[in-house]
Amino acid sequence: MRPDDDISDDERRHTLRVRESIAREIAAAGGWISFERYMDLALYAPGLGYYSAGAHKLGAGGDFTTAPEISSLFGACVAKQCAEVLGAVRDGSILEVGAGSGRMAVDILARLETLAQLPARYLILEVSADLKERQRTLLHAALPHLGNRVEWLDTLPPPFDGVIVANEVLDALPVSRFRWDGTVFEELGVTLRDGAFSSAARPADSAMAHRCKALMAHAMLSAGQFPGDGVLDGYISEYCPRLPSWAVGVARSLRTGAVLWFDYGLPRAQYYLAERRDGTLLCHFRHRVHDDPFRHPGLSDITAWVDFTTMAEAAGAANCELAGFTTQAFFLAGMHIEAEMHAFAGGDANRFARLANQARQLMLPGEMGERFKAMAWLRGLDLELSGFALQDLRHTL
Ligand SMILES: C[S@@+](CC[C@H](N)C(=O)[O-])C[C@H]1O[C@@H](n2cnc3c(N)ncnc32)[C@H](O)[C@@H]1O
Repeated sequence: MRPDDDISDDERRHTLRVRESIAREIAAAGGWISFERYMDLALYAPGLGYYSAGAHKLGAGGDFTTAPEISSLFGACVAKQCAEVLGAVRDGSILEVGAGSGRMAVDILARLETLAQLPARYLILEVSADLKERQRTLLHAALPHLGNRVEWLDTLPPPFDGVIVANEVLDALPVSRFRWDGTVFEELGVTLRDGAFSSAARPADSAMAHRCKALMAHAMLSAGQFPGDGVLDGYISEYCPRLPSWAVGVARSLRTGAVLWFDYGLPRAQYYLAERRDGTLLCHFRHRVHDDPFRHPGLSDITAWVDFTTMAEAAGAANCELAGFTTQAFFLAGMHIEAEMHAFAGGDANRFARLANQARQLMLPGEMGERFKAMAWLRGLDLELSGFALQDLRHTL
């Protein structure tokens, strides 16, 4: 056991239950399950998965820190982007998918209130029962007078006018992993070896091999290599089979308005680079990033970078216009984050210095500024979105 694995007895019992449940499924499947299935179980198995059971997840003592957790400046900027859309529809509402601690919901509603542009309803679709409870508690404490506008949903709502927002949700959708062994594509799955989960490869079926070949072409091109040169033998990466249908399904809830996606990721041609030969899988446990998806299943978050070219294709499939794609830094600059800093600081120099520090975390290239992207889809609206006005990266998709 590693020195940082100081998990409580309850947590140890929980991760053991998750292990046993996944091990049973592996045995029932003849000794091997796909990585996508493993990730699905580790994150979403009812009562067991990281998102469906009671792991700590966000904020201090949690596993990761997202942009809204770093600073209310993020939610305030998203709110101003929402306001532009709400101003263009009648009686608009907001749907937030995967609302975490509820921080961004509070910040969006608070800022929209100051703009006198509150949405008719603020809907939250959340898979995690304990996060729903945290969201309720936070919203009730921070904005008790707006409680009647907030509604929690278990399924996507019927089409409404307004905005859908999702921050760091796409990266949690289970991915398929593949490896190029120099001759054929293999699908990486999970097996049990000496009682422990272990990665195991199988020949990819023809549909997967076809898909991987197209993705590998980008890596080959970036290396100036051709199949058979050997340079990329052993190359491992992943893709998210359910990403397009999931995103299209979410957008179906929108009659007129915008969908705003925020997440870490890249256009496809930059994702599948020769030098990124171990993929983009990232796990989070107690603010430490690690690369072992088999460590503490059910207690550890497992994520992969988002292929934003897939998201651009999904916009078309959803009958939406791809209205913008930019880095988080340029999105925040386009929404005039510095004006928000002055407003939040209210003339207090110390407070301003703290906010400037938070803005740096959100915007610097070595922090979240470039890794994280913002993408906007529009349906039934012809609108210039300020967050996407300073930098247009759509041509990279
Ligand atoms: C990494 S957290 C981000 C939380 C929040 N958006 C933030 O930025 O702080 C991912 C959130 O998405 C939720 N989630 C994960 N998968 C989901 C899914 N398939 N549908 C809806 N919510 C999901 C999680 O429960 C959690 O609230």
